[in-house]
Amino acid sequence: MTYGGEPVGTVAAIAEGSAEAENYHDCFVRDFIPSALVFLADGEGDIVRNFLRTVLRLRSQHQRIHGHEIEPAVLPASFRVGLDEQGQERMRADFGDHAIGRVAPVDAMMWWVILLNIYCRATGDKALALEPEVQRALRGILELTLREGFEVFPTLLVPDGSFMIDRRMGVYGHPLEIQSLFYGMLVSAVELLRDTPESHDIIALADKRANMLRNYIQLFYWLDLERLNEIHRYRTEEFGTGSVNMLNIYPESIPEWIVDWLPARAGFLVGNLGPGRMDFRFFALGNLLAVIFGITSQREAQGIMRLYQDRWEDLVGNMPAKLVYPAVVGKEWMFMTGSDPKNVPWSYHNGGNWPVLIWAFVAAAMKTGRGDLAQLALDVADHGLPQANFPEYYDGRAGNLIGRRAHLRQVWSAAGYILGHKIVEDDKLLDMFCAVDQRELAD
Ligand code: GLC
Repeated sequence: MTYGGEPVGTVAAIAEGSAEAENYHDCFVRDFIPSALVFLADGEGDIVRNFLRTVLRLRSQHQRIHGHEIEPAVLPASFRVGLDEQGQERMRADFGDHAIGRVAPVDAMMWWVILLNIYCRATGDKALALEPEVQRALRGILELTLREGFEVFPTLLVPDGSFMIDRRMGVYGHPLEIQSLFYGMLVSAVELLRDTPESHDIIALADKRANMLRNYIQLFYWLDLERLNEIHRYRTEEFGTGSVNMLNIYPESIPEWIVDWLPARAGFLVGNLGPGRMDFRFFALGNLLAVIFGITSQREAQGIMRLYQDRWEDLVGNMPAKLVYPAVVGKEWMFMTGSDPKNVPWSYHNGGNWPVLIWAFVAAAMKTGRGDLAQLALDVADHGLPQANFPEYYDGRAGNLIGRRAHLRQVWSAAGYILGHKIVEDDKLLDMFCAVDQRELAD
C-alpha cells in the first residue's frame, strides 16, 4: 500500500473481486507484523518506519468518533487509502468504529510498541524512538494501560474480540494473547523511553508491572498434569491470605477433554483466567508469543513444544497451525459465539488452522532448540500453501480443507510463511526479539 508515492504498509488480501472482502483492502496493524519482520530481515526498514509514523499520525482521527472522550493513546486496527472528491489521496483509519461487531483493537497499540523496538534494534535507527511525538505516544500508551482498572490482578482486562480473534468467542476478560502482548509492550516501552523527569515514574511502574505480570502468568496460567491434579482436588471458597485457590476455580469446571488429552510431559498456558473462570482451551498465538517474549520459563517453553510434538495431529495437522483447540460445539457454540455461522466448529477462529501462525511457531521452536519441529511444520506448509494461493485459514479437525469463506492471496499467510523459512535459515533473526526476553536470564 502506498500513500503519497511512499510504501506505508501491506493490504490484508490481494482482492479477487469478492464483495464481502471490503475491509481486506485495509492495512491491518496486526497483519502487517510478519510483513514488517520480512522487510526488516531484508534490510528494507524504510517501509516499516513509514508504517510506524503513519499509524501514529492517524491517532488524530480517533477524535471524530462521537461520544467518546478523546483517548490519544488508542491506535487503529487498520487504515486504508482512497481518493476524495477532488481526486486527492486520503487515508482513513478504523478504530473499531467500522469493524464487524464494532470491536476495539487493543492489540494494535501493543504491536506498535513492540514493532518500534524491533525496528530500532534491527536498523540501529534509534532516532525515531527519541522523537518527542514518539516519546509522548509511548507515555500515553503506558498511562492508558497502567491506569487503575478496578482490578486486583496484574493482567489487563479487555472486551471481547480485541485481538486476532476479533469476534465473540468467549475471549473477553484476561485472554492470554493480550497478556503476552501486554508484557512484550511493557518491556519494549521501558527500553524505548528516555529516563526524563516526565517519564521516570511511568518507566518504574511499567517495569514493576512487567515483573508482576510475568510471575502471575507463570503461576496461574500454567497448566500441566501436576497442576490439573491440584485443581481437581482444589478447596474452594477460601478467604483472605494464604489461600491456594485464590481465584476460586471450581474443580467441576474442568472440561472432560483435557484429562486424557494433556500428556504427562507437556503443558501450556490456559486461554483466559478470572474470578471463578479458567478457560482451558489452547490458544496458539498467546502461547507462542509467551515463549518468544520469554514470559514462560525454560521448562515451560519446553513443555509447550512437547505438547505440539505429542498432539501434532490436533495442533498442526495438515496446515500449521490450529488457532484454538478444541472447537466449541452445540449449545456452548450457540451461547459463546452468538450462533456465529463463520465460527462453526472446526472453522475460522473456532478451531480453524491459520497459516500465518507458522512464523510464530517456527520462532518459538527455534528459540527452545526444537529446530526439528520448526522444519516439520515448514515441510507441512510447503506441501500445500503456495499451491493453494495462500488461503487465510483452513477448516476441519486436521485443517485439511481450505476455509469455506477464506480469502486467497492473504498477505499475512504468505508473509508468515516467508518469515518462517527465513528464521529457520538464519536463527540470528530471533535476536530481533531479544529486547523483550532478557528477563529469561533470571530463570
Ligand atoms: C480477520 C482476523 C483478524 C485479521 C483480519 C484481516 O478479521 O480475525 O485477525 O486482522 O481478518 O486479515
